[in-house]
Amino acid sequence: MTEPQARVEELRDEIERHRYRYFVLDDPEVPDATFDALVGELLELERAHPELDDPDSPSHKVGAPPSPAFAPVDHRLPMLSLDNAFDEAELDAWFDRVERGLEGASPSYTCELKVDGVAISLSYERGRLARAVTRGDGRTGEDVTPNVRTIEGIPGRLAMREPPALLEVRGEVYYPVDAFERMNTAREEAGEPRFANPRNAAAGALRQKDPRVTARRPLAMVCHSSGAEEGITFAGHAAFLAALRDADLPVAPETRTCADRDEVWAFIEHSREHRHDPAYELDGVVVKVDDRGQQRRLGRTSRAPRWAIAFKYPPEERQTLLHAIQVNVGRTGKVTPFAVLEPVLVAGSTIGLATLHNEDQARLKDARPGDTVIVRKAGDVIPEVIGPVLAKRPWEVQDAGPWTMPTACPFCGSPIERLDGEAASYCTNIDCPNRLLESVEHFASRGAMDIEGLGYETAKILLDSGLLNDVAGIYDLDRARLLATPGLGPKEPSKKGAPTTRVDNLLAGIESSKKQPLERLLVGLGIRMLGGTLARDVARAFGTLEALRHADEETLAAVSGMGPTRAQAVHRFFANERNAALVDRLVAAGLRTDTDRAEVSATLAGWTVVLTGGMDGFTRDEAKQAVEDRGGKVTSSVSKKTSLVVVGTDPGTKADKAAELGVPQVDEDGFVRLLKTGELPA
Ligand code: IVH
Repeated sequence: MTEPQARVEELRDEIERHRYRYFVLDDPEVPDATFDALVGELLELERAHPELDDPDSPSHKVGAPPSPAFAPVDHRLPMLSLDNAFDEAELDAWFDRVERGLEGASPSYTCELKVDGVAISLSYERGRLARAVTRGDGRTGEDVTPNVRTIEGIPGRLAMREPPALLEVRGEVYYPVDAFERMNTAREEAGEPRFANPRNAAAGALRQKDPRVTARRPLAMVCHSSGAEEGITFAGHAAFLAALRDADLPVAPETRTCADRDEVWAFIEHSREHRHDPAYELDGVVVKVDDRGQQRRLGRTSRAPRWAIAFKYPPEERQTLLHAIQVNVGRTGKVTPFAVLEPVLVAGSTIGLATLHNEDQARLKDARPGDTVIVRKAGDVIPEVIGPVLAKRPWEVQDAGPWTMPTACPFCGSPIERLDGEAASYCTNIDCPNRLLESVEHFASRGAMDIEGLGYETAKILLDSGLLNDVAGIYDLDRARLLATPGLGPKEPSKKGAPTTRVDNLLAGIESSKKQPLERLLVGLGIRMLGGTLARDVARAFGTLEALRHADEETLAAVSGMGPTRAQAVHRFFANERNAALVDRLVAAGLRTDTDRAEVSATLAGWTVVLTGGMDGFTRDEAKQAVEDRGGKVTSSVSKKTSLVVVGTDPGTKADKAAELGVPQVDEDGFVRLLKTGELPA
């Protein structure tokens, strides 16, 4: 066998295996980018060695055969795939091919986001949803109609006065990213394996035998292309999308018709910057020749149209080497395993560490030091290890067996214990030095006392040098001793003029933290189950620390959002002698112990507000807080139900969507006025 032939066969086997895992098992072993690279290599070899081409090669296939669990349905027109371009040169080459195919004419292009979801074809007969079918192998798919009928936003009937005999609409069903994260966290807490990504979760939800199960999942759809049409036709793609929108079908607002290559490129760059704005994940932009006549002239290959191309962004999943698994001990003593990775660039940031959540998750994933692992980062989510690439596992790693949770704390040597029925393990030493470090860092963090100059590094120096033994000690720090401490010594003069030192910055930060309202102190104390919102409600309900710390469980439980379990946790915290002594010292240090009772009235009750872009006077959290203080709700995506979009500088596509749906918008000044007066500017 020749060398290229051997490689071609190897690639075909490997690609088939990945296709099976992806399409049939909904459980891919490699990130999309790795798969694309294998197909790219195969296509390249087949092009260079036409004698090796084979009609059965996976390079000609789209999707995978339908699963026997659902009735097979033949598509009236095949559901095609798309060719990919990975850089500007590849995109330019496609533009050149298109222009050559159209004998020099330069067409207009409609650009859309490439939604990372599950492809579905909807058939509307006389305006009624008759059938919903998965792509399958592109010719035959699976009938998932009862499940798709449960998806909100997919109309059972088109809003058309004279619906055509047949209109087939294709698009992607997706699992919204926010809901996906919440669902995965809940699965994790219940000891179930996490889904690898939203697309797999959507595929899993769609392929349920019981539609009631699908109905409980917050699936949504974006329509992007056409299938068979009878009694209706469209001049171009933009007109087709506009008709879908009028018919109440979900169409992405982030769609633009571009007159030339430069405009297409600008759309690609803009969408890259706003990659995480939509509720779904996207992996690129699809560029389509708009005019249907030109589309027909360009035609298609066996797997993809020649008139469209997917420009793919670099992957947000990557493979890298897992060097070690270590554990951290948090401020509650909770032990969290994490992966030490060969640093790798994912979604624009270099990742060297990634969480493994807890012992069960780490064991389920079964990633071992020496494994190549898949690392993922979605939006602002903490990077995580999805799992090992078993095909790349060295035999000595296989022999070494699975990772096990250490039995002793790496920071203090005390036993690590896991209570029955709990997913988490704990260091049993209440004075564990790492617990203390994490408590100090948390106390000083932005959501708590917000002490400028007291981050992780400084906290570590203070604790290691013995200057600090607990959080109350922060307020006893002595300037002279701080100045004499290695690592804290004088720093360069600040830019604003007056020479100052790191120590003075720190002391100023500590001093101003004394003015933080009670709710910040409560958050800083790290009371179990008392997060920011509840801390604020509790602080408002009791008014002072004195009243709160002496309240009985019943009174605590009566605060809205508390309930008996949280009330017990708060009560226990203050009843504990060590905590009581710590709180006494904080009070003696002069910390503020009341809250702003400045009652803001519920002027925004019932409002749903979306924030986009930056503001000068508010951080995103502050703006959100201001809305919530007035009884409103802040959500991340714009819909018909949104009451208002606050548009800051450099806004995302949410502003466009608001304009499209006719949702009112205000700028920062208008927002400030709204907060003050409860009224929108005229
Ligand atoms: S058009 C005939 N537009 O990506 C052209 N596809 O990797 C059909 N996809 O098979 C596809 N977003 O399932 C088109 N805006 C978009 C898309 C999109 C996601 C999917 C689609 C396609 C696959 C190819």
